[in-house]
Amino acid sequence: MSVHREVKKVTTHILQAMKARGEKIAMLTAYDYSMARILDAAGVDVLLVGDSASNVMAGHETTLPITLDQMIYHASSVVRAVNRALVVVDLPFDTYQGNSKLALESTVWIMKESNAHAVKLEGGAEIDESIKRILKAGVPVMGHLGLTPQSIYKFGTYTVRAKEEEEADQLIRDANILQKLGCFAIVLEKIPAHLTKIVSEELIIPTIGIGGGGDADGQVLVTHDMVGITKDFHPRFLRRYLELFDIMKEATEQYIRDVKSGDFPNDNEQY
Ligand code: KIV
Repeated sequence: MSVHREVKKVTTHILQAMKARGEKIAMLTAYDYSMARILDAAGVDVLLVGDSASNVMAGHETTLPITLDQMIYHASSVVRAVNRALVVVDLPFDTYQGNSKLALESTVWIMKESNAHAVKLEGGAEIDESIKRILKAGVPVMGHLGLTPQSIYKFGTYTVRAKEEEEADQLIRDANILQKLGCFAIVLEKIPAHLTKIVSEELIIPTIGIGGGGDADGQVLVTHDMVGITKDFHPRFLRRYLELFDIMKEATEQYIRDVKSGDFPNDNEQY
């Protein structure tokens, strides 16, 4: 199937139209200019400046340490690279939970400084005031339910969420609340495939799955996992399209050998 490059710029409305006509949405994370240029040129629909930057770019164990200013640095780099994709930025931990005024201030700051197109917040009914306030200011909001990594210390593990009926019912209620509030899409992370199917069929806004099976309206992966820059992460849901760690390591080893032997630079590689 060909990727869709005929659309000049992807908007939230285009994503909803894609769901309506049954066209899947392809989303990936990006945190820097060079990577974002490649992904946008390939025709990805949505680029998520995820707070997973805390893990893959900064080497933290969780997403909690990343700051608003660091997210702005990543987001503005991505926005400068993009011609077509919709750029969504994660509001980091402690910039919106339990305080809708702070949520709006964080959003306005991120939007003004980065020129991104939308924000993503983790949570359901408990953050409804924050979502309302952001939407009222005219900023599109993407929701995020299921495994929400900013709550890792509440969950205790990164295993599949909503396997029990009570949590699954709550997730369905939350998804409906997010849609009613006006979110344009919802990420469903690491939940059973049958639950993704129920939610995706019930909602008119698109669902974007990660570890939630094939019935979501779109899929997202952390790019560094997808191209194999990260090495020791093998969840069942991850399909690796490259082994870039090994490829780059081999290239680097060759470079080191060439420098040490005097092979690089040769006569054609100097002025
Ligand atoms: O931060 C992130 O990369 C995310 C995706 C896993 C959806 O939120």
